[in-house]
Amino acid sequence: MSLLSASLLGIDFANPLLNASGVYCRDVAELDALAASAAGSLVTKSCTLLAREGNPEPRYYATPLGSINSMGLPNAGYQYYLAYAQQHDYAAKPLFLSVAGLSLADNLTMLAAIRAADTPAIVELNLSCPNVPGKPQIGYDFAAMTAMLEAVTQAYDRPFGVKLPPYFDIAHFDEAAAILNRFPQVAFVTCINSIGNALIIDVEAESVVIKPKDGFGGIGGDYVLPTALANVNAFYRRCPAKQIIGCGGVTRGEHIFMHLLAGASLVQVGTALYEEGPGIFARLNDELAELLTRKGYRGIEEVRGKLRTL
Ligand code: FUM
Repeated sequence: MSLLSASLLGIDFANPLLNASGVYCRDVAELDALAASAAGSLVTKSCTLLAREGNPEPRYYATPLGSINSMGLPNAGYQYYLAYAQQHDYAAKPLFLSVAGLSLADNLTMLAAIRAADTPAIVELNLSCPNVPGKPQIGYDFAAMTAMLEAVTQAYDRPFGVKLPPYFDIAHFDEAAAILNRFPQVAFVTCINSIGNALIIDVEAESVVIKPKDGFGGIGGDYVLPTALANVNAFYRRCPAKQIIGCGGVTRGEHIFMHLLAGASLVQVGTALYEEGPGIFARLNDELAELLTRKGYRGIEEVRGKLRTL
């Protein structure tokens, strides 16, 4: 076992880092670049039943504090990512398949095909895309989330994870966690998707900066780190039988350390990967290793969930 070794669902990972779904993972070239990078694993772009062009451009915009996007689930359709999963080298690193059907029926169709393909890929069910006009985030509708998980756990007999939107109220942490805890098959929880429906304004142009939804979109990067950490820790405390994947606001090794302290087993990188490219994973691993060594830790399991309260 090395300093950065990680584990999820009993599977070993060389390190806790991977991309956030949506960044650098839409086609084979991007996925191969992640596979060749220093990331410990990778996740495909959230897929739908059929390929989608996504929302009109410009649909991503970076600021000094992060990014806003309203991509609208542009993807090549689930069969494309399933074909990738079937030829992926799992001995080299694990692969997650992100699934974001536009309906319960679409999710069931895709999951049935994934199950039949019998690949070792791990499903991350995305309940939190904020950017498809007319399709509210399921994670904010607890009745719909319950119905989704009831149907999915009936139809798909393997452990899987869910990607959640950020929550901002203790009552919502409690309610979402209580729902998840009814489903042992939900083995991990990814916190967080972007903070949805934010608005960034260009003062000189007196304008929004992205075209879809009159400029409303999900924000990531520095804007979201404290919210991501709170959600990781809230679900880590409330879902002791599940593992947590942290996502949000990681640009430096110390941010990964914070996610680990809050309870994350793995940590995803979104905006910073978009801006810096897959070379970021080597830098982040080096920074995390240097920090762990300076603090005298021998592995990330010694850090995970050890956040002190006052
Ligand atoms: O717009 C998008 O494709 C984003 C998806 C997501 O945040 O899950």
